[in-house]
Amino acid sequence: MTANNDLPTVRIENIHQYVGQKVRLQGWLFSRRGSGKVQFIHARDGSGFIQCVMGKADVSEEMFATARSLSQETAIEITGLVQAEERAPYCGHEIHAETVAIVSPSENYPITRKPHGDAFLMDHRHLWLRTRKQNLILRVRATLVKAIRDYFDNNGFVLMDSPIFTPNACEGTSTLFETDWFDDRKAYLSQSGQLYQEATAMAFGKTYCFGPTFRAEKSKTRRHLNEFWMVEPEVAFMDLEGNMALAEDFLRTVVQTALDKHGDELEKTLERDLSTLKNITQPFVRLSYDEAVQKIQELQAQCEDEEERKMMEIEWGMDFGGRHETLLTQQYDTPIIIYNFPSQVKAFYMKKNPERPEVALCLDVLAPEGCGEIIGGGQREDNLELLLSEIDRHGLDKKDFEWYLDLRRFGSVPHGGFGLGLERLVGWVCGVHHVRETIPFARTLDRLSP
Ligand code: 4AD
Ligand code: MG
Repeated sequence: MTANNDLPTVRIENIHQYVGQKVRLQGWLFSRRGSGKVQFIHARDGSGFIQCVMGKADVSEEMFATARSLSQETAIEITGLVQAEERAPYCGHEIHAETVAIVSPSENYPITRKPHGDAFLMDHRHLWLRTRKQNLILRVRATLVKAIRDYFDNNGFVLMDSPIFTPNACEGTSTLFETDWFDDRKAYLSQSGQLYQEATAMAFGKTYCFGPTFRAEKSKTRRHLNEFWMVEPEVAFMDLEGNMALAEDFLRTVVQTALDKHGDELEKTLERDLSTLKNITQPFVRLSYDEAVQKIQELQAQCEDEEERKMMEIEWGMDFGGRHETLLTQQYDTPIIIYNFPSQVKAFYMKKNPERPEVALCLDVLAPEGCGEIIGGGQREDNLELLLSEIDRHGLDKKDFEWYLDLRRFGSVPHGGFGLGLERLVGWVCGVHHVRETIPFARTLDRLSP
């Protein structure tokens, strides 16, 4: 190896810049196949995957024997000549390997080519992250995080991190994670940074927070995590109409960014059909809650399967379940904005429609293909008296909300915003069925490890 010390160490993502040059690659053996005459070493370095070809005739016997001995996930260093090769797997380039050295061994690697169950893979999440599909999903996540930050940073929003330890509930007391604070006091992990964003929006006009969010939900669905990431913009002097326009423009921009950057890989590696994602340029469907209920009832009437029909049951006033959301999203191939839900199913801070107080000035955005709700938000109650009576009606303690009530005492204005769940967005973009694959280490009812 010393003879090759002057070679550039390259990353696979940049390999196209080195065609015709000898390079050094540091990574791991992903898989290997071949014969007594030639070995195909499939290597990965974190930035990509590449095929390295070693011919027996081109290297020493010892070197060829080393190549033949490599097992899955052995850490390796390879040197060789980069060639453009359209037919090569992965990246359209390959390396004609001259040397391969073992950095450290890997024996009996648990994740093999044979199919493994979900639980096994989640137990080995720390290793599962090395595979192509998981690698791509989490890269798309990173791209979306940056696109989200860029969107708000470029549109006059100021980043304001909301606290994670909070003294009270934001989204209902039943999903609070409680922890000990000092002097026998209790603290709760944040369910939403919204209430603090309302304060910062009154100070800066437009703000957002983007951080981990905690819900002690005992839901075992494909859409629920107990720890997830939420981005929450909040804007002073914005009504429901403005909120819907913001949600639509925001979602369109970030999905388009992910498509531009990863469209090809999504198709190739995840076999993602990009058609509904490409429809992101179309206007979103808008349905009032009333219209959405009517739509579900019509679909129910047409349904022939009795069990299905039972699950589709809905009456005005009920919140949508996962089944209802799935049904609605299957009717359209763009995202759907549903607005004006019944106040009774919504949080204490939602502003009631002054012309129809039984509905709130709120919105949910449902993603297509059965994904369901990815955004929830609305206009906030800006009237002190009405807010006080809602705090009371929800059985919350006014004392905990004194600072929040100050926002209505000192220059209260119409304002609103929303929260987007990052994992659900990644799930939709990647076409991943369960959100547990869209975060590096998922926290769910039955999983706190790895
Ligand atoms: O609809 P939610 O509960 O809204 C709020 O928390 C508001 N305070 C946000 C705001 O107006 N600033 O949650 C918003 C989004 C949901 O649409 C969903 O995408 C995601 O957060 N979400 C979850 N994602 C994964 N697992 C869970 N348990 C989630 N709960 C909500
Ligand atoms: Mg919601």
